[in-house]
Amino acid sequence: MSRDRGPEQPFEDVVEGLRREGLMEPPPSVGETDEVSEGTGRVTLSFAPADRSVRVPPGVSVFDAASWNGIAIDSTCGGHGTCRKCLVRLTDAVSPVTRHDRRTFTDEQLGEGWRLACLVRATHDLAVEVPPLVTRPKASTVGVGRQVILRPAVQKRYVELTEPTLADQRTDLARLRDAVDDLTLVPDLHALRRLPKVLRESDFKVTAVVVDEVLVDVEPGDTTGRRHAIAYDLGTTTVVATLLDLETGTPVAVASILNKQQPFGGDVITRISATMMDPEALPRLTSLARDTLAELAAEVCEEGGVDPAEVYEVALAGNATMTALLLGVDPEPLGVAPFIQVTADWPVLLASDLGLAVHPGARAVVFPALGAYVGGDIVAGMLASGLDRDKRVRLFVDVGTNCEIALTDGDRIVTTAARPGRPSRAAPSAAGCGPPTAPSR
Ligand code: FES
Repeated sequence: MSRDRGPEQPFEDVVEGLRREGLMEPPPSVGETDEVSEGTGRVTLSFAPADRSVRVPPGVSVFDAASWNGIAIDSTCGGHGTCRKCLVRLTDAVSPVTRHDRRTFTDEQLGEGWRLACLVRATHDLAVEVPPLVTRPKASTVGVGRQVILRPAVQKRYVELTEPTLADQRTDLARLRDAVDDLTLVPDLHALRRLPKVLRESDFKVTAVVVDEVLVDVEPGDTTGRRHAIAYDLGTTTVVATLLDLETGTPVAVASILNKQQPFGGDVITRISATMMDPEALPRLTSLARDTLAELAAEVCEEGGVDPAEVYEVALAGNATMTALLLGVDPEPLGVAPFIQVTADWPVLLASDLGLAVHPGARAVVFPALGAYVGGDIVAGMLASGLDRDKRVRLFVDVGTNCEIALTDGDRIVTTAARPGRPSRAAPSAAGCGPPTAPSR
């Protein structure tokens, strides 16, 4: 990472440097385009095939209007007019052609209404056709299995308790603790609130749910066969969720979607830059990351036929920037030398802190990072592949939006990271055939 701000370099210089590198170039002003008449009130943008209409103030870019309303348009520059990926077609009105449009589309495509969404100002009502995006991004959903000892933090114990009498006035919790003799039960408030009612409604035949040493719930009857967890790979471009059956250690369902932060840019530097330029960007990025995780949780639970309330643990592995953004931590120190993380070890959180609608006592474990550019995803990969225990020379490579390598000689592990070239994802070129398709470049 070469964007060394240095202690005495003014912030404006940093921004100028980023602009020179094409990371923060603003869209051209209205004056650079053909004349645009500013409207008053609000204008309506109709998006197809999403079949959504949104009303926005005049002058807002089509890209921003779509992003604010959860309609994904491809981008790796975050709407700064540099990536030329935000291809849309205006189907019922013309819009001025910018010099960037001319460099992107043929005359014929311009005549058909193709424009770059971040450069189209909504000065009047528009119908906007958004080509099929990579809403189902390619992601590995299967891997090479490895035998491991299954030792989940989530434990369940079914017990049948004796009912209290005047001669036996032990508390409900003491009664449960006495019956579960192989685990220490430290109850959370949720469990204590449920305990009296669940005990009496189920004839004192209950299942204690324990995560690490915390009693997070008491469930009626015997539910020992049902305990689940979700493992997330929080990528810059793609996020993958795997629902795991903790009884067997096997995946029940796997799903992946684009990281909803994508409109802020395709790489970590662009997203860090967004937080440096706009104080509203960090909470927005945090919220979008959480929305991404929540959507995936709902999807894998539905696909696996699992009640989300039976997901008692969540594990998250991502690069240091994605992790910071998810947790609402200012990522700026990760983007400038000497590239410092706020911590290498995150505390264990509640999944509900991240807005996940799973069991209210579910834990969220965030993988630690080794450095600003060797994140928790690499740590998880090294652990999963056994690299840390292998006595042979081994190389571990993670090729993603950011690229990391770990090398071991059996005694020690060295790691490094680099930014690969710009993503070369190309849209299909069969314009006019079947559903709306973006022109390719
Ligand atoms: S050029 Fe429009 S989002 Fe990148």
